[in-house]
Amino acid sequence: MKLAGDLVIREATNKDIEGIIEVLKTIYLQDVAWAERAIKKLLATENYVILVAELDDQVVGFIDYYILPSIWEKRNEATINNFFIHKDYQGKGVGSRLLEEVIKRTDEIGIVELHVGTEKKNERAIRLYKKHGFLTEYLLLERVRTPFQKKYKCRGIVLPR
Ligand SMILES: CC(C)(COP(=O)(O)OP(=O)(O)OC[C@H]1O[C@@H](n2cnc3c(N)ncnc32)[C@H](O)[C@@H]1OP(=O)(O)O)[C@@H](O)C(=O)NCCC(=O)NCCS
Repeated sequence: MKLAGDLVIREATNKDIEGIIEVLKTIYLQDVAWAERAIKKLLATENYVILVAELDDQVVGFIDYYILPSIWEKRNEATINNFFIHKDYQGKGVGSRLLEEVIKRTDEIGIVELHVGTEKKNERAIRLYKKHGFLTEYLLLERVRTPFQKKYKCRGIVLPR
């Protein structure tokens, strides 16, 4: 189904935090206050870009990525970190538009490798990435601390109070 209205893709500012939170709420969000501080911190981080998709003044999705130098490649590499489309706007091409914008922007600045990790069972996301030229090139490993101790879950993440 086509979207009514024109989709605008642009860089996010602090004014978009509320809209981004509203998108996350439709999918999964544990702690609004923590998420607000986290997004604010990411927006202030150097070489970290958050793009929002806006439809009729409403944020309907966002994607973000960071750029770091790769010693191996002797160039910069980019990694997509978060990518969420409002539940009511999924399957309408918004994710594709955001991903295409990241590819365009990273191509323009000579990024040799654009990485993204996703859960093995997230077929929708995998299909979307493959459609846009991503290959299964790496294996992303994860170590989950066991037993999971709730009180330590934010340790190591320095967030402003
Ligand atoms: C995954 C996600 C970002 C995709 O964004 P989207 O706007 O829904 O995707 P689009 O409408 O642009 O669809 C693009 C492609 O995705 C795939 N796709 C979309 N909906 C799908 C569905 N219901 N089943 C399978 N594949 C699907 C298809 O390949 C589709 O291309 P096609 O329409 O030509 O077949 C979005 O669904 C989302 O936010 N999901 C929850 C959070 C998430 O999983 N994020 C990714 C974490 S890595």
